[in-house]
Amino acid sequence: MHIAVLNGPNLNLLGEREPELYGRTTLAEIEARTRERARALGIDVSWTQTNHEGELVDAIQRLKGKADGLVINAAAYTHTSLAVRDALLAVRVPFVEVHLSNLFAREPERRRSMLADAAVGMVTGFGAESYRLGLEGLVGYLQARHGP
Ligand code: DQA
Repeated sequence: MHIAVLNGPNLNLLGEREPELYGRTTLAEIEARTRERARALGIDVSWTQTNHEGELVDAIQRLKGKADGLVINAAAYTHTSLAVRDALLAVRVPFVEVHLSNLFAREPERRRSMLADAAVGMVTGFGAESYRLGLEGLVGYLQARHGP
């Protein structure tokens, strides 16, 4: 089983960026932990981060026929990007939306996600652990659907 993980803008700054909201774990550390969990589950993982909306759209389009599922933290594009939503609907790869912070405890404009209603589910507010929880939830969902 192949799972892609896509990360949107400013997540490359994790560790130093607003640590009171996002914690002190870097994106490289989250990647290492996610890969370790995936290895234990026997899952193959690819990992991408981009600060550019079009690159995120391209990366989603490339998943067609290649990934069984997607874990995505679209960061600020979560709240604004019809283009990211359209790409996800076009490729029809089952995805779980993850966020380090709890979107629903933040400003009103962050409580709205352009992606959530099309997702298998959302994990929000568990810091770096949101990625592991998202991966486990997605793998469980896919295994229930297709068998291990
Ligand atoms: C975020 C939440 C977004 O609102 C914000 O723009 C981010 C990070 C999170 O993981 O908590 O960049 O997606």
